[in-house]
Amino acid sequence: MRLNDCHNIDDFRLLAKQRLPWPVFDYIDGAADDELTKNRNTAAFADADLVPDVLAGVAEIDTSVTVLGRKSALPLILSPTALQRVFHWQGERAVARAAQKFGLWFGISSLATVSIEEIAALTSGPKMFQLYVHKDKGLNRSMIERCQEAQFDCMTLTVDTIVSGKRERCARSGFTSPPRFTPSSALSYAIKPRWALDYLLREKFALPNLDSHVDEGTGEAVSIAGYFNTMLDQSMTWDTAAQIKSDWGGTFCLKGVMSVADARRAVEIGADAIMISNHGGRQLDGSRAPFDQLAEIVDAVGGEIEIICDGGVRRGTHALKALATGATCASGGRLYLYALAAAGQAGVERALTLLQDEIERGMRLMGVTSVDQLNRERLRAR
Ligand code: FNR
Ligand code: LAC
Repeated sequence: MRLNDCHNIDDFRLLAKQRLPWPVFDYIDGAADDELTKNRNTAAFADADLVPDVLAGVAEIDTSVTVLGRKSALPLILSPTALQRVFHWQGERAVARAAQKFGLWFGISSLATVSIEEIAALTSGPKMFQLYVHKDKGLNRSMIERCQEAQFDCMTLTVDTIVSGKRERCARSGFTSPPRFTPSSALSYAIKPRWALDYLLREKFALPNLDSHVDEGTGEAVSIAGYFNTMLDQSMTWDTAAQIKSDWGGTFCLKGVMSVADARRAVEIGADAIMISNHGGRQLDGSRAPFDQLAEIVDAVGGEIEIICDGGVRRGTHALKALATGATCASGGRLYLYALAAAGQAGVERALTLLQDEIERGMRLMGVTSVDQLNRERLRAR
């Protein structure tokens, strides 16, 4: 299978599986416990049907939305994801360049493998920094100040990782940050020579936004679960979130809100947006899919705060269904990560081309010329 054989996101998943050592593929593809929530995140979109209008004159359409204070060419944000240079040597640099080319928001994780400063120098496109609140308060301050200095456009505080989800595939494979070549796993890396040579001969692994303060995850190999459960601040409360918003002073988003009560709290602390998310099913397995929960949140706080539907998106029509339900925008991680892992920047750009094409085709066949014409009238639950 090659890049040009990829005609949808699932094709990219197969190509990534073919090219990656299985511990790395399983880190991306895997989720928590029985992976029920990860699977439901995508399946939820199949339980809502679009009702098209015809003869609507759709030669000229506008696929853009304004979200987090910036224009986005598509109703799609590339969600922040960790360790990208483990998936492909180009890592976050590839995603930043592709996002800029398509006029999209993207985010880098606290556990990014490229620095805040380099990403800021590399792209003038809208970028968010995703903050994990660490026990080390000096580290939290350092990341916020570096983002202020680098003029990032949004601080996104992730709030659904107070402890790690049970990542059973990673427990089986022994996946760590950085990857450890143990006798049992070495073979899985050795049989993927292209990945192994890139990983060993190109730029050394680093977590440049963290390693000034902590060794774990860089000099000291640790599982993600181990990192979450030992390094992150488990005493975080709404006061913490309000304080971080105040310290940051700019556009502020909470990622991982799922309940109406929390959506209302987000409005109270003055957050600009919430990402309704269950972390791609990687945290609380058995929790509801963002798309299933979306209408309830929109009915409660729609118009008071921007609502981003995060997770399970694999088709352009998934984004259209989220907007018809009332989301400001959709977002996702694996929708570009499989493509990154499979083929670097060329892969991400092909995936975004496919999604852009699906969004444009979907709008035309729906009979809408701009996304604000999408509403619940055009959707029916099964
Ligand atoms: C993630 N996600 C994530 N979220 C976050 O806030 N900080 C992070 O560092 C990461 N890292 C990460 C790594 C990998 C490999 C994946 C798959 C996901 C979650 C991500 O931002 C997003 O919420 C989910 O990926 C959405 O689900 P989909 O689109 O992947 O189905
Ligand atoms: C994950 C963390 C890094 O989901 O957010 O793997």
